[in-house]
Amino acid sequence: MTALGKLFHTTAFKLSLAYLVVFTIFAFSLLGYVAWNTGRVLTDQIASTIGAEVHGLDEQYRVGGLRRLVNIVERRSRQPGASLYLLTTPAGERIAGNVGSLAPGTLDEAGLKEIAYGRNEDSEATPQSALVRIYILPGGFRLLVGRDLEDRARLRDVVWRAFGWSLLLIIVLGCAGGWFVMRRVLKRVDAMTETARTIMAGDLSGRLPVGRASDELDRLAQNLNVMLDRIGELMAGMREVSDNIAHDLKTPLTRLRNKADEALRMARTPDDLRAALEATIEESDSLIRIFNALLMIARLEAGNARETMADFDAADVARGVAELYEAAAEEAGFGIDVSADEPLPVHGSRELLGQAVANLIDNALKYGAPQAGAAGPITVSATRDLDCAVITVADRGPGIPTAERGRVLERFVRLEAARSRPGFGLGLSLAAAVARLHGGTLRLEDNAPGLRAVLSVPLRGEVHASPAREEGAASEAAERLRQLHSATQGQPV
Ligand SMILES: Nc1ncnc2c1ncn2[C@@H]1O[C@H](COP(=O)(O)OP(=O)(O)O)[C@@H](O)[C@H]1O
Ligand SMILES: [Mg+2]
Repeated sequence: MTALGKLFHTTAFKLSLAYLVVFTIFAFSLLGYVAWNTGRVLTDQIASTIGAEVHGLDEQYRVGGLRRLVNIVERRSRQPGASLYLLTTPAGERIAGNVGSLAPGTLDEAGLKEIAYGRNEDSEATPQSALVRIYILPGGFRLLVGRDLEDRARLRDVVWRAFGWSLLLIIVLGCAGGWFVMRRVLKRVDAMTETARTIMAGDLSGRLPVGRASDELDRLAQNLNVMLDRIGELMAGMREVSDNIAHDLKTPLTRLRNKADEALRMARTPDDLRAALEATIEESDSLIRIFNALLMIARLEAGNARETMADFDAADVARGVAELYEAAAEEAGFGIDVSADEPLPVHGSRELLGQAVANLIDNALKYGAPQAGAAGPITVSATRDLDCAVITVADRGPGIPTAERGRVLERFVRLEAARSRPGFGLGLSLAAAVARLHGGTLRLEDNAPGLRAVLSVPLRGEVHASPAREEGAASEAAERLRQLHSATQGQPV
């Protein structure tokens, strides 16, 4: 498309054109109204001037008769800038006055009218128009008194010319302004299109130019840039996940394959084969768990879990999960201290929050074995802090060095000390993803000694549920948590 063609197709052009038409119509109506009204006022004025003159002549006629009237008409006719006068006999012959020629029949009827006349006898001259009043005097004499309408015609001329000029000016200015605006808009839209094209070609680093005007185009560009940032982040996340999956699943898959291979070559008895198969199934189960956890994190980060959100009590979830781990904690040699008395109403997914808390407690059990000189149970607390529900899981173990605290939240990151324990490095990622889904955060702090994991999510506001309903909901929720755990084979990730 040519540049001009493109211009004609822009919204800016169509808008400018519409405005131009509307403005022209408006200017036309306004000028027309002014012209018509001024003409009317002028005509009224002329009519009243004629009236006054006729009144004067009438008085003279009454005092001095026809002779005096003739004298006065003759004298007034000669004055510069005089009105129009004509006095004729009943037969239409001219006695006195300054009107040259008249259309035939003009004097037949008395009254006020607009006529065409000539200044002198020369009938070739172009006739002029005048507003006149005609009287029929006693004896049939005719008297015409009037004024030329040249002024009115001149005014009409002036108005028309003004209209022409303003129309021209409106069109020129409108076109110039429209052109200017469109050029600017088009240039910016072109720049945006160009960037969009490079982005579409695969270069996600491109960003739309944002001007300083902060007009609607700038705002659009800003929002699109934010969107591109987000897409870039998601893409980077995806790339990282697929890289990680490729790396981290390779080891268990290779192990699985080697075990099967070894069993084939070495197993002598059906029992050997059975044992090998059982080991293979176990290995496969843990692979499935990794996949499930990865899928869940991906779903959470895409915000897909929002439709299953409901209102529930976070303190209740913390209590329920801690209860599930009590036996395991006793077995490991350190108990669990729970303090979650205050109801903490939040809106979200009870199961997911439960899974996140389970992951934190599981970590505390796995990695939080008290160091020499520091003993103590795992503490789980659910408290209210401003408008947040804060669930804290703290242990008295070695903790995580400050420098590593950000990194362990990433997928598949496990610290050296943890290598001997089962796990895939997805538990904290999942807990952090759950916190983000609820609009909250997961922080890792120093428990001096040990690790304190702080999961905080915004409170819903008011609790409407009655105590009886809450109790019912609590047992129902505990049941659901148990189901969830059996679905993940009782194991957090
Ligand atoms: N309570 C804790 N004390 C010390 N280190 C921890 C604790 N919790 C987590 N970590 C470290 O963070 C890493 C990531 O944890 P996580 O994502 O739950 O993976 P996993 O438990 O499968 O190893 C762990 O491997 C461990 O090194
Ligand atoms: Mg873990």
